[in-house]
Amino acid sequence: MKVLSVTSEIFPLVKTGGLGDVTGSLPKALEPLGIETTTLIPGYPGVLQQLKSAMPLVVFDDLLGERASLLHTRIEGLSLFVLDAPALFNRPGGPYVNEKGVDHPDNWKRFAALSLAAAEIACGVLPGWVPDLVHTHDWQSALTSVYMRDRGCMTPAVLTIHNLAFQGQYSKNIMPELRLPPQAYSMNLMEYFGDISYLKGGLQTVDAITTVSPTYAREILTPRFGMGMDGVLNARVSVLRGIVNGIDLDVWDPATDPHLPRNFDIGTLRRKRENRDVLLEKFGLDPSGDGPVFSAVSRLTWQKGFDMFAETADEVIHNGGKVIVFGQGDRDVEKLLRDTAARFPGRMAVHIGYDEPTAHLIHGGSDAIVQPSRFEPCGLTQLYALRYGCVPVVSRTGGLSETIIDANDAAMSARVATGFQFHPVTTDGLRLALRRALHAYQEPKMWARLQNQGMKAKFSWERSAQQYAAVYANLVRKSGQVTSTGEIRRSAL
Ligand code: ADP
Ligand code: GLC
Repeated sequence: MKVLSVTSEIFPLVKTGGLGDVTGSLPKALEPLGIETTTLIPGYPGVLQQLKSAMPLVVFDDLLGERASLLHTRIEGLSLFVLDAPALFNRPGGPYVNEKGVDHPDNWKRFAALSLAAAEIACGVLPGWVPDLVHTHDWQSALTSVYMRDRGCMTPAVLTIHNLAFQGQYSKNIMPELRLPPQAYSMNLMEYFGDISYLKGGLQTVDAITTVSPTYAREILTPRFGMGMDGVLNARVSVLRGIVNGIDLDVWDPATDPHLPRNFDIGTLRRKRENRDVLLEKFGLDPSGDGPVFSAVSRLTWQKGFDMFAETADEVIHNGGKVIVFGQGDRDVEKLLRDTAARFPGRMAVHIGYDEPTAHLIHGGSDAIVQPSRFEPCGLTQLYALRYGCVPVVSRTGGLSETIIDANDAAMSARVATGFQFHPVTTDGLRLALRRALHAYQEPKMWARLQNQGMKAKFSWERSAQQYAAVYANLVRKSGQVTSTGEIRRSAL
C-alpha cells in the first residue's frame, strides 16, 4: 500500500514538538507492515539545504498564485516529497513564526498551498506515483481532503489530531484566495463561528479521524477539551479513534545515545550519576549533595502548566533537590520560571531555548521529569523519561493518564507503578505529587523499583503502527466501491 503523509514538521529535518517526532518515526514503523509512506513537507531553508541536486518532478506555475515545484529525496530512511515554493517557505525563522517569534502573516496561504499540492498528488499529478491513501496531520495539512473532494478525488483520507488547540482559524475574507467554491464556506464544511477553520474542513471531509491517545479521543468530545470543535467531533464520532503514540527506540536509547557523556541501560543505572554531574555543570547548579534533580523539557505554554511548577518548585528545593527547566514559549510563563530560579541560585536553573542534544542530556542525567499539563493529547516527554530511568511526575489528563501508572499502594505492590500522577490539575495537586515523589526518593529501593518498571514499559511503535495499518486497510478495502460518506461529502461541495 502506498501512503502520502502530509505534514508541516518531520524529525530529523524540522521539528518544533511531538508532531515532528511522530511523522518522522511512524513511516519506519509502518514499513515492515507493507506500507510505503512518502511524506510531503514544505521546502523550508533547513530542508532545502539537505537536498542534493534533485530534479523537479512537476512544476506548478500557479499554486495559489505562487510558483512551486515538487522534488523527491530520501533522507535518513524517509521518502520525501519537498514542496519547493521559495516565496512561501524559503525564509528565515521557524516553520510557523519569523525570527521575532511572530506568526508568518501568510500562514493561511503557506499551508493551504501545501494542502493543495498534496491534493494534486492524490489526484494523480505524478502519473508514476499515485497513493492508495492520504494521511494528514493537524490543521496545517487539513485542507488536503477538502481540495481532494472538490476535485472529485475520492482516495481515502485520514486526519490525525495531534492538538485540538490549533485549528487554522482565519477570516472568511480569504475564502476567494483559497480557490474553493463558495459552498465550501458552509456550516457543514469550513464555516466556524463566522470565520473559516482549516481543521474543521479536514474533519468534515476525511474518512477516518484519529487522535494520539484513546483518552484524548474521549476528552475532545466534551466542551471542556473540545476547544469549540466538540460538536463537529461528536457528529463524526463513528469514524474517530485514539491510537497512542510510540517512540523511536533508536533515537531515544540511553545505551547508544550520542548526546550522553555516559551511556547506560537498565543494568547500569548507576552510570546516570556521571550524566547528572555534566548536566548540573551545564546548567550552573551546585553539584554537591545527594538530592534528586527534577527537570522539565517542554514548550512553556498554558497547555503545559509550568506556571504551576514555578509556584511549587520550592517544594523540591526545600527537600534538598535541584530543579532544571529547559524550553521556550509564552513570555509570561518564561518570566515566572526565571523569577523563581532567581530566588534559588545554584539550586534551580531555567534556560530558555530549544536544542535536541540538551533535551537528551536532561533525560540522561535527571531523576524525575515533571509534566504538569492542563491537557495533553499524548505527550512524548514522559515516555522518553521512562526509557531513560527518570520517574515522571504528571497530571492525570490525556495521554499522560494512560502512559504512566501512578505509584499508589496497589500499583506498588503489584510492581507496575512507573510514576506519580495528580488530579485535579492545580498547583496544590502538583505540590502533593512532588511531595510524594520526593518521599519515594528517600527510599532507594522504592525509587529503583519505579525506575526499573518504567524502563521496562513498552512504548515502541509496533502495536500502534498495527492499529494505523488496520485503519488504512479498512478504508482502502471500502474504497473499492465509492463510499456513501464519500458521495455525501463530494456533493457537499
Ligand atoms: P508537544 O508536541 O505538545 O510539544 P510532546 O511531549 O509530544 O509535546 O513532544 C515534545 C517534543 O519536543 C519532545 O521530543 C521534546 O523532547 C521536544 N522538546 C520540547 N521542548 C524542547 C526544547 N526546549 N529543546 C529540545 N526539544 C524540546
Ligand atoms: C501534540 C501534543 C502532544 C503529542 C504530540 C504528538 O503537539 O501536544 O501531546 O504527543 O502532538 O502527537
